Amino acid sequence: MRRPFLFLCSALLGISGYAAAEEVLDYKAEVLSIMKKNCWDCHSNENEVKGNVDLDPATLADQIGPYNIIRPGNPDESGFVERLKLDESHNDFMPRKGSRLSRREIAAIEEWIAAGAIIDAEQLSPEEKTRLAEARPGAKEMESGSGATSDAGDYRTWTNTAGRTIEARLISLGPATVKLQLRSGKTYDVPLQDLSPDSAAQAKALGDR
Ligand code: HEC
Repeated sequence: MRRPFLFLCSALLGISGYAAAEEVLDYKAEVLSIMKKNCWDCHSNENEVKGNVDLDPATLADQIGPYNIIRPGNPDESGFVERLKLDESHNDFMPRKGSRLSRREIAAIEEWIAAGAIIDAEQLSPEEKTRLAEARPGAKEMESGSGATSDAGDYRTWTNTAGRTIEARLISLGPATVKLQLRSGKTYDVPLQDLSPDSAAQAKALGDR
């Protein structure tokens, strides 16, 4: 059931716990049946897990994140969606050996990702709670407009070799990876070689301080 407006209200009021679970667009309700119909033979641990993509709700979190194939809040940059929209003759087109999902099915997946790519509204992880808050329109402006966070200056823009950018701060620099933290508090280990030359240089400069 889709009631995004109600969800917005509870988010704005800061109601925690998201008691009204049906107000959140989640994978289980909006997307899972589409996956079962079109992708399950090749992407579930009931059968086979091709390309390391297991679409089972229990393991889907592995595919979700700012550098992953499902990028919360960002359907346009999600490789997951990109593949569904390719020409059927393209090598990367999904479902392989199947026909294109309908426009409505693709739109449902895009909406789900735009709304924060939540797996199960009844069992929100701490990260998902943050994502829900971030998916709310205006959340970013409110955050930067508050100016109250003392460590705001630590957040910088990072770009990967594919040209995607995130805002994060450097937590640590290792020999081959950087640990970056998003405003949500979530941290990621990013291989230095996946960063653009500028961002890799930025990591090294900061790490040397
Ligand atoms: C007949 C088997 C088959 C079906 C059905 C299928 N896939 Fe795949 N999929 C593969 C194989 C094989 C790979 C790994 C090779 C590749 O990346 O092209 C793959 C890879 C992927 C990847 C790439 C992972 C990455 O790291 O980039 C995504 C995303 C994906 N599939 C999504 C889907 C979705 C969504 C569906 C259903 C709409 C689907 N697939 C249906 C066989 C299938």
